Amino acid sequence: MSDGGQRTYGPLGTALVIIPTYNEAENIGLIVGRVRAAVPEAHILVADDNSPDGTGKLADELAAGDDHVHVLHRKGKEGLGAAYLAGFVWALEQGYGVIVEMDADGSHQPEELPRLLTALAGADLVLGSRWVPGGRVVNWPKSREFISRGGSTYSRLMLNLPMRDVTGGYRAFRRETLEGLGLDEVASAGYCFQVDLARRAVQKGFRVVEVPITFVEREFGDSKMSKDILVEALWRVTQWGIKAQASKLLGKDGGQGGGKGGEGGRGTEPGSGA
Ligand code: GDD
Ligand code: MN
Repeated sequence: MSDGGQRTYGPLGTALVIIPTYNEAENIGLIVGRVRAAVPEAHILVADDNSPDGTGKLADELAAGDDHVHVLHRKGKEGLGAAYLAGFVWALEQGYGVIVEMDADGSHQPEELPRLLTALAGADLVLGSRWVPGGRVVNWPKSREFISRGGSTYSRLMLNLPMRDVTGGYRAFRRETLEGLGLDEVASAGYCFQVDLARRAVQKGFRVVEVPITFVEREFGDSKMSKDILVEALWRVTQWGIKAQASKLLGKDGGQGGGKGGEGGRGTEPGSGA
C-alpha cells in the first residue's frame, strides 16, 4: 500500500464479528461454526430482531456452550442498520479492538476474514468488495446483480466516493473508526446503512481499503431485500448527494476527504489481493 505510508496503525486487538439475523434458523449454526473455525480468537455477537423462526433461541444455545459467542436480543424487526448500531454500541462498551460486519446466510465467507483483517493492519476500514478485480458474485440472478451494481454506481457518482462496492455488507472496522463516524447521527434503517457508513468514513478522511471477496448467494432462507428498502436507499442517497453538491456550490465544507488531515487518509486503494 503506497500513499503516505507514514501513518502508523496500532495493534488490532480482539475482533468481534457482528451477525444481524432475522429468520436465519437454518443458517445460524453453520455460520457461527464457520467463523469459530476460520478465526478462533474472534468473538461473535448475534444481533437478532426477535425472529419468529426461533433464530434467537438457537443463538442462545450456541452461546451457552461457547464463551466466544454472544447474543443481543432486540424487540422486533427494525432493519439491518438499527441492529448493527445496537451491536456497535455493545462492541465498543465491551472494549473490542476490531468490529466486523457479516451476513448470517453464508454470502460473506468466514474463510476470507483473515484477509480482511490482514488488510486492516494498515487501514481504518476494510471493505470486502465484489466489484474490484478478483471480486465476484456466485449464484446471483442477473436482476439482483444489476440492482447492486447500479446502487453502487449511483452512490459513487452522487456522493463522489472512490470505492467500487459501496453497498456491500462484509466489512472490518477499527474501533477508533467507529468512534469517529458520528454513529449517533445515523438514521438509515435498511441496506443504505452501508452507503451511509462508507460516505462518513470518506468524509472523515479515514483510510478505506477494498479487498476482493467472493459473495455466495444464500442456499437457505430468504433475502430480506424489499421495495421499501430500495426506496429508502434511493431516497437517502439522492438527498445526501444534493446536500453535498449544494454545500460545494455555496463554498461550505460539504465536500469529501476533509477531516483527519492525515497523510494516507484519502480514497481507497486495492487491498491485499485474492
Ligand atoms: N437483526 C436484523 N434485522 N437483521 C436483519 C434485518 C433486520 O431487520 N434485515 C436483514 N437482516 C440480516 C439477515 O438476516 C442477514 O443475516 C443479513 O442481515 C443480510 O440480509 P439479506 O436479506 O441476506 O441481504 P441480501 O443478501 O439481500 O443483501 C446483501 O447485499 C446488500 C446489498 O449489496 C447484504 O450483504 C447487505 O448487507 C448488502 O447491503
Ligand atoms: Mn443474503
